[in-house]
Amino acid sequence: MIQYLKDKKVFIIGTPHYDYVIHINEYNHLEFLYYGVKLPDYEHILSMKKRYEFEGGNEVSYAKDAKGYMLQHIPKELTTFGKGDFKEPTVTVEFQDETTTLDFVFDSYEILSDYTLKNLPYTDKQETLLIKLKDTVYDFYAYLYISPLTENVIVKNIKYINHTNQPINLTRAHSMQLDLLNKEYHVTKLDGAWIRERHQTTFKLVPGVFKIDSKKGVSSSNHNPFILIKEPQTTYDYGSCYAMGLVYSGDFEINAELTNHNLLHLTMGINSFNFKVALKPNEEFITPEVILNYSNQGINTLINQFHDAINNTLISKYQRHKDRPIVINNWEATYFDFNEKKLLAIAKKAKKLGIETICLDDGWFKGRFDDTSSLGDWQVDPKRFKKGLSPFIKKVEKLGLSFGIWVEPEMISEKSELYRTHPNWAIKLPNREPAIGRNQMVLDLTNDDVITYLKEKLYQLFSAHNISYVKWDMNRNLTDLHTSTTNSNKQSVFNYYYVLGLYKLLNYLKEAFPQILFESCSSGGNRFDLGMLYYMPQTWTSDNTDTYARLAIQEGTSLLYPLSTISNHVSSFVNHQTLRHIPIESRFNVASFGVLGYELDITKMTKFETDIIKKQIAFYKKHRQLFQYGNYSILKESKNSNITIWSVTNMLKDNSIMLYFQEKFEPNPAQREVRISHLKKGKYILKNREQFLTIRTLGSLVNHVLPFNLKVNGFLYNILANKYKQKHNDIYKRFSKTRYDYDLLLNHTFTSTGYNEHTMLLEDYGSRLFIIEGDDDGERKNKN
Ligand code: DGJ
Repeated sequence: MIQYLKDKKVFIIGTPHYDYVIHINEYNHLEFLYYGVKLPDYEHILSMKKRYEFEGGNEVSYAKDAKGYMLQHIPKELTTFGKGDFKEPTVTVEFQDETTTLDFVFDSYEILSDYTLKNLPYTDKQETLLIKLKDTVYDFYAYLYISPLTENVIVKNIKYINHTNQPINLTRAHSMQLDLLNKEYHVTKLDGAWIRERHQTTFKLVPGVFKIDSKKGVSSSNHNPFILIKEPQTTYDYGSCYAMGLVYSGDFEINAELTNHNLLHLTMGINSFNFKVALKPNEEFITPEVILNYSNQGINTLINQFHDAINNTLISKYQRHKDRPIVINNWEATYFDFNEKKLLAIAKKAKKLGIETICLDDGWFKGRFDDTSSLGDWQVDPKRFKKGLSPFIKKVEKLGLSFGIWVEPEMISEKSELYRTHPNWAIKLPNREPAIGRNQMVLDLTNDDVITYLKEKLYQLFSAHNISYVKWDMNRNLTDLHTSTTNSNKQSVFNYYYVLGLYKLLNYLKEAFPQILFESCSSGGNRFDLGMLYYMPQTWTSDNTDTYARLAIQEGTSLLYPLSTISNHVSSFVNHQTLRHIPIESRFNVASFGVLGYELDITKMTKFETDIIKKQIAFYKKHRQLFQYGNYSILKESKNSNITIWSVTNMLKDNSIMLYFQEKFEPNPAQREVRISHLKKGKYILKNREQFLTIRTLGSLVNHVLPFNLKVNGFLYNILANKYKQKHNDIYKRFSKTRYDYDLLLNHTFTSTGYNEHTMLLEDYGSRLFIIEGDDDGERKNKN
């Protein structure tokens, strides 16, 4: 709800749980007062104003009659340069007279309903507060939009408008700021690179400006457009934290400035590097939205508030809360070495395993036998598909699978028909050799002719074939920024117009093919952001399918992005990115937290693997809603970084699945315990998912388990290893959770001498999934 307290000149943007409060102060500036837990009343809200009584030494007061009102120290809604605020500005300009000073004051306000954004992705909201600010000298406006989005989060963005009769250069146009009194804050951000995306980095803020950004044309795997601020004592379950996520897919910038007077000033938006927009009279510039989140109950609550908001307001209505299919992808199974026969064999086996969709990855189009050619042409390769794609799709459908396809529409190969006919459609400079990544260049999406070409090509492809799922790849960053289009004002901020072109194309496809589930991919997670999720409800999280590496990637990703958007595949032994050997059960256990798929040659698996995967898929299907839409919690075992524990829980908080993953085997460990903070108080039954191991895990110990003797690695041993499923011990526990921080004791883990039917056997990278269900009637439930 949005309220305006006229007597106090205070706006309250309230959700049922939190309040965001701003004030039009005595100088008509928009002053930030409070963001946190809902206030019982607003009687003394103005006591939160921050005022100094005198100017220190070299400081500057706002005006002659405003002694002690120093903008540098005032938390605000819009920081500008030139009147004594020396912090990182949220917006900067060059007026026609070459001055750069800006001073925005309150002009008017409105309450809007169903506010949407032109040309950019946006969240569904009901009520929006629009506050119009005007510069004190020039007719230059900033329109601030703030909306309560869900029960917990709010969303903000700004529009800048030139109502003067001369052009104004916009040289920075961020979407929002948040100014907080510093509480020894720590920052957590998501950093990485290809195949190690979104790892958490946490550190204490020190005075100065700290910046995270991307200049790559995509949001990038180096830093995600996300930031989390927490008090030092905040944990997953307790304490205060704030976080912000930008709804944008290109170059972004986050500035976190800690002043020497203990103010934390945060700004977020499109990168101001290489940014100069000439706003003509009456032109406007709309900035992307930022989802703003606060929790006073720890990071897990913050996470689920984000997930809830994204699932309910950003994901396309058609795909919202829908079950995401289990996909088999042929990339790691075949790379470029496939034909129709091979793919059909994979599809046949996939059906037997319970898989629902086959995704035909890179290489299906004319001349594409390696990564040096053909991007841009999008014609089916007659050598691979003699009669075109449709007969193949029909065969796939006859088997009972749906069909998905890989495309990389933003790219062009030098070796392509498209490049021969339109060399100037590739992004390159007239006077320099273009840089090349993966033997390809990027198409100039700022050029409307390119967008028209892609719309037509993709429309043909998607409408001529029965396609239920599209994997949209993008495998290189932008360089040689230049458009060959003439009369274009796009040169000076090329990457922004590139993103607008992309959004135009995606909007068209989203509307033309609402039934197609799009998965975005950019060499894995080089463009995992809220902007892409508006058009494509899920993202290929990383090209790294190694389960252990995935723990950090998936955990970091889940701080902002819902499980329904995180696509994970069980891949082969050994892992192609890391050469690591991880038990197949653990590969599934970790991949199941999100959207499950498989990416290995399932036609070449042992009977052991086939049987196990069948069981995994049946289990996933039974619990799919929990894995894709359940409340996600990180339940770290205190003091033990060797262990990862995650859970997904239903809305009522009485039914959950918990992952228990051990990195390295620990000899003679203490009995392990898990803090079950994600469940409400009550009686519960815990049992494990039925899991198996191959006798290879046991090596020579097998002769202590079986009633007969086998030569390790001998003929019989190998036959048995490929067929025989050794069942892990079942673990069955009933317990009463009596308090919020109840610690559940797990069974003793296997170590050398000790083993009986209650022992939990966990090798290196071993893991279990536990199902915890309410036991209200006190009756022992059926074990299966
Ligand atoms: C990069 C993607 O991330 C992979 O999954 C695969 O689709 C390849 N591109 C295909 O070229």
